[in-house]
Amino acid sequence: MDPVDAVLIGAGQRGANDFGSYALQYPDRLRFVAVAEPIPERRTRFAHQHQIPLNEQYEHWQDLLSTPQKARGALICTQDQMHVEPTLTALRRGYDVLLEKPIATTPEGCIEVIKTAAETGRQLHIGHVLRYTSHFKKLHQIVSSGMLGDLINIDHRENVSWWHMAHSFVRGSWSISSESSPMILAKCCHDFDLLLWILDRNCEHLSSIGHLVHFRPENAPPDAPQRCLDGCPVSEDCPYYAPFVYIDMLPLWRDIADTSTGLVNIAAQAQLKAPNLLKFASKAAPPLRQVSDYRGWPRSVLALEPSPDAILKALRSGPYGRCVYFCGNDVVDHQVVLMKFAGKISVSLTMHGHSHIEGRSTRIEGSRATLKAFFGLGGSWIEIDEHRSDRSIRHDTTADVKRAHGGGDVELLNAFVESLRATNNLDSLSIARQALKSYFLAFAAEEARLGNKIVNMQSYAARYLPYED
Ligand SMILES: NC(=O)c1ccc[n+]([C@@H]2O[C@H](COP(=O)([O-])OP(=O)(O)OC[C@H]3O[C@@H](n4cnc5c(N)ncnc54)[C@H](O)[C@@H]3O)[C@@H](O)[C@H]2O)c1
Repeated sequence: MDPVDAVLIGAGQRGANDFGSYALQYPDRLRFVAVAEPIPERRTRFAHQHQIPLNEQYEHWQDLLSTPQKARGALICTQDQMHVEPTLTALRRGYDVLLEKPIATTPEGCIEVIKTAAETGRQLHIGHVLRYTSHFKKLHQIVSSGMLGDLINIDHRENVSWWHMAHSFVRGSWSISSESSPMILAKCCHDFDLLLWILDRNCEHLSSIGHLVHFRPENAPPDAPQRCLDGCPVSEDCPYYAPFVYIDMLPLWRDIADTSTGLVNIAAQAQLKAPNLLKFASKAAPPLRQVSDYRGWPRSVLALEPSPDAILKALRSGPYGRCVYFCGNDVVDHQVVLMKFAGKISVSLTMHGHSHIEGRSTRIEGSRATLKAFFGLGGSWIEIDEHRSDRSIRHDTTADVKRAHGGGDVELLNAFVESLRATNNLDSLSIARQALKSYFLAFAAEEARLGNKIVNMQSYAARYLPYED
């Protein structure tokens, strides 16, 4: 079978590194035939990797989408505030779209995108990768089976690690709400989507609290300079010292070592305890270079070819070398959303950026059993403790660690390709409509946090749509 042809809008981390790698790894499934990307080095590199001729390399999405349709699919991977316009244009031009999350940064934008997909009859897939992981599919299946009994209470936590928080939400692209999106939307649109999918019922009302507590100028150590490399007096002690995070990369390897098993665990431990030995061993065993000469996220955000010299250069002049207390960031570093779902189920969603270990944890209390689950960088598991029998059942839901987002990226793209080939019956629009409800929860949570109030979700949705349920 021929691969599905697609165009790429935005050859950044997601577009080039994640979706681009999929096409390189599975050339029989997906082939890029054109790219739009304003940064010349990114555009040229992507075009070279995917053998895209010069006349199909465009600077802006408008240039690409103003030419006659040249492929079946369009993958839209621009930043959060640049999703709506290219998506509407691509749908109207006849493309089936895979759009990165969030659909839009306003309720009106989300609705317009979904309405346009319905009107044009095109497919609209959203990058809610967690739905496609074996971990959350298993969790969904367990809850749907009824083995937990009546659902009473859920405590779901998005524990963003302290170094991921500093990277993305203090120094990085999602640090200023008005330029990207509120953190509850950027980080937790996945979690609201999962909760609605797993519970298969509506949220009736919610409230929320959250603040930016730590990453503020008044918390900077005395005499700290604006940039870590400009003689910071606490370079030996500060966890956020940029060379510690991006050159030594100790936080990432610790995280993986703490949550993985088997060979991945051995390699991560070796990198932590004897990096030179691992480097030497990788000469004989090249797969070990993925650890000893790691070039993936977050290093890949700092430089196109993230060699140690390129990283150092980026830390001297780029945004990721700034002191975390002087970044002008305003998104929260913790937020809690309390929700009442239909059936009087109480649900709390806690998101915070100070976790020692990165990972989502879920606890579900049912009338017949308790479920505990963890989804981390190195591994994941689900455990069920049955009340009557005292039986404990454990599922290892760890995906291949090379597969980003617990295998969700590959499965999302597989679903997209199969859906375009019509070899499966995925109803992308109904999934997108479900996603809209999760966006409403995120927008309502932000309104509740800022206005210090309880939001009734039926009234909230009625502002934008005739309420459907
Ligand atoms: N599904 C997930 O789990 C997940 C994970 C990370 C990021 N994301 C989302 O993916 C999106 C992209 O994130 P990223 O980290 O790849 O960002 P990025 O900044 O690395 O990439 C965006 C790219 O779009 C390009 N661009 C800007 N203007 C353009 C234009 N006019 N035409 C074409 N391209 C243009 C930029 O130059 C950049 O290379 C974001 O919305 C983000 O929230 C989703």
